[in-house]
Amino acid sequence: MIGVLGCGNMADAIVRGIHRFDKSISFITYTPTKTRAQTLANAVDGRAVDDISEMNDCDILLIGCKPQQFAALAEELKKKLTRKNVHIVSMMAAIKLETISTKLGQKNITRIMPNTPIFVGKGVTLMTHSDQLEIGQRQKIESIFSKLGSLHLMNSENEFDQVMTVTGSGPAYAFLFTKTLVDKLVEWGIDPQSAKEMTIQMMEGSVEMMKRSEKDLTTLISDVTSKGGTTIEAIKVYEGNKLGLISADALEASLRRAKQLSEELSR
Ligand SMILES: NC(=O)c1ccc[n+]([C@@H]2O[C@H](COP(=O)([O-])OP(=O)(O)OC[C@H]3O[C@@H](n4cnc5c(N)ncnc54)[C@H](OP(=O)(O)O)[C@@H]3O)[C@@H](O)[C@H]2O)c1
Repeated sequence: MIGVLGCGNMADAIVRGIHRFDKSISFITYTPTKTRAQTLANAVDGRAVDDISEMNDCDILLIGCKPQQFAALAEELKKKLTRKNVHIVSMMAAIKLETISTKLGQKNITRIMPNTPIFVGKGVTLMTHSDQLEIGQRQKIESIFSKLGSLHLMNSENEFDQVMTVTGSGPAYAFLFTKTLVDKLVEWGIDPQSAKEMTIQMMEGSVEMMKRSEKDLTTLISDVTSKGGTTIEAIKVYEGNKLGLISADALEASLRRAKQLSEELSR
């Protein structure tokens, strides 16, 4: 049985996804206002509870509140969770395994980092475990999440934080870059709906080529950029404006913020 603490958009999508492929897993849900816990419980044949103490029968507790809400939840959970071998699975950004362990007095912990494309069944989830987590518990949670989309196990929390700057935040970069292309077409007078549709179709096709082609990314770029052609002129502008450096700086900024938040939230 999985206990779900916090039933926002992300936890809701994950729990509904799990329920879709495995009806044998049952759920107990909790949120302070109960509304979203009840909605989710209704959707997955689960039970919404009024008090965290009713979660003591759960083998897994999925923490789906915001990082800034964790301190309040941890205080209550530490008081009311009497079971010691529960497996805590946190989706909170920036809260380290050690912080979760200290605040909850628990040892068996997994951190996951899904991304918003999980809403359309195309999510990428990163996962890392505390050293003490038993092999059986590892295998069970890995098996559950591998059915929800792509699952990647990270070797360390540092690696988890680094990759998160791409897989976790990346949908925003993809939307931003796409928007810059759509905006220019619209500026030229193309109807906004068609501009968006054509740009997304171009993105979809390009993603499919990156997936299927055996060529590396540099070759795929040079295949489109013939000498004296039009594409190379655009690429020169991107390179002249140091797109690579801008991306590197962006990821460094995201990583810095993750470290800063981890530090703040560990107190
Ligand atoms: N959005 C993303 O791209 C993304 C990606 C990966 C991970 N995450 C992580 O996912 C988590 C949830 O994000 P979200 O956007 O789904 O949040 P959200 O929609 O704001 O939902 C937060 C939920 O936590 C509940 N909550 C608040 N305080 C609580 C407490 N003390 N005990 C139990 N539950 C409590 C809220 O209850 P009420 O319903 O009563 O208000 C609500 O159901 C965050 O930690 C975030 O870092 C998000």
